[in-house]
Amino acid sequence: PGPVVAIDGPSGSGKSTVARRVAAELGLRYLDTGAMYRAVTWWLLEHDVDLSDTERVAALAAQAPVHVGLDPEHPTVRVGDVDVAAAIRESRISAAVSAVATNLGVRDTLVAQQQGTAREGGVVIEGRDITTVVAPDALVRVLLTASEEARLARRALDVHGSADDDAVHATRDQIVRRDADDSTVAKFHQAADGVDVVDSSHLSLDETVEVVLALVRR
Ligand code: CDP
Repeated sequence: PGPVVAIDGPSGSGKSTVARRVAAELGLRYLDTGAMYRAVTWWLLEHDVDLSDTERVAALAAQAPVHVGLDPEHPTVRVGDVDVAAAIRESRISAAVSAVATNLGVRDTLVAQQQGTAREGGVVIEGRDITTVVAPDALVRVLLTASEEARLARRALDVHGSADDDAVHATRDQIVRRDADDSTVAKFHQAADGVDVVDSSHLSLDETVEVVLALVRR
């Protein structure tokens, strides 16, 4: 079935794009675990669930009909019959997702699903806790980092289509707060044993993909 490649990194590190490109290049499947947390969050908000009600959130997350496609060339995210690929990137979801992702019951459910995919092999999995919790036995484990400056510029470009001062400023509050909210999920200043750190601050997308491919081929 092929190897498992685990890629973790903070927001704006470029991990989604890099993971997709690596998967496509190697003919592997691709799993975006952040999309799973975002889709569950979308579904909970759709049902007006109080996100501070931890027991209800955990119980409902176990029933959420979330389907994340594994084709790196055509990533799809559905909840039931609804295509939510665009909706899960909205700022209302980005603002709420950490509250859902730090719910331990939610994590149990989603991590178990992700581990099922990892056990089948032949997949690049990206997220926050893949190298440590979901696939600690992966053939290659990468922590993709980038300076805060580089991450803000990239995210501003993603969300606002510009990396000028206003766009960076608008992005900063959200990113800094989400990093803080997510800090219980993963620590990004230190990689776990056996995890290769790739700093993409001064690398182009192509160069970053090449560095990760070299780690797989070594
Ligand atoms: O959009 P961005 O790259 O910042 O994040 P994402 O990969 O789409 O993940 C969205 C959110 O899901 C993160 O901020 C975390 O709260 C959560 N997440 C997680 O807890 N564990 C993962 N393995 C992946 C995402």
